[in-house]
Amino acid sequence: MSYQLSDLPYAYDALAPHIGPQTLKIHHGKHHRAYVDRLNELTEGNIDSDAKLQHLLGKADGALFDQAAQVWNHSFYWQSMSPDGGGNPDGELAKALASAFGSVERFRTEFAEAAKGTFGSGWAWLVQDRDGKLRVINTSNADTPIRHDLTPLLTIDVWEHAYYLDYQNDRGAYVETFLKHVLNWSFVASNFTTAFRDMMRRPGEIFEAPGDVLDHPALSKTQRIEVLQQWRYDAVQLQVAAQENMTGGEQGAGFIEKIDQALTQLDRN
Ligand SMILES: [Fe+2]
Repeated sequence: MSYQLSDLPYAYDALAPHIGPQTLKIHHGKHHRAYVDRLNELTEGNIDSDAKLQHLLGKADGALFDQAAQVWNHSFYWQSMSPDGGGNPDGELAKALASAFGSVERFRTEFAEAAKGTFGSGWAWLVQDRDGKLRVINTSNADTPIRHDLTPLLTIDVWEHAYYLDYQNDRGAYVETFLKHVLNWSFVASNFTTAFRDMMRRPGEIFEAPGDVLDHPALSKTQRIEVLQQWRYDAVQLQVAAQENMTGGEQGAGFIEKIDQALTQLDRN
């Protein structure tokens, strides 16, 4: 079983007039398909799932990395756009963007600058780093944030094949239209929630000082409470397990007390 080209999540003409059907037909049906075909050739059909593909992105080099990353990046790019796109984010994502960049508008400017400023072919991304901080980056050619231990939340393809038929060499117009009309905020919000949950459950985090959560720059108040409550739950489970195994659990009681103090402090502010 080989890797299958992912379906476009909308019809070829669904993003018109912003991104025309001819662009999507060629971009998805020819370029993306060619990366998938080449990946299957190079791996002799051994990559047959997204999990295996992501694993490959962490260790492959040369042509194999290039094909695998381009397959993954394009699937992520299709989802970064929607016929109902554009507008503004809301909820926790909007707060996190304002906290990281100063405002959602400022985020848009940074993202546009990264996309327009990518030399040659590549991608611009909104990512979350291992500390939960949101950042805008760009990558060259096939390179992908997954390789750099960053969690992608949004991307725009700035290879010429993504915009030439609609905008010729005016990459700026394509980037501005992407941000204004097709950017799929629901997809970004869903990636943000998943990345936040993963971070919350990172092994070892529970043994860090609960007080640090109070000043965590990447988290809103709601998220700080959520993190602490999750840690408290995990700590109680560990304590119960320790008592059942007759290995004490006194240490756990100290952590729970610190978590409760941090929660009380958040409640007062
Ligand atoms: Fe592309």
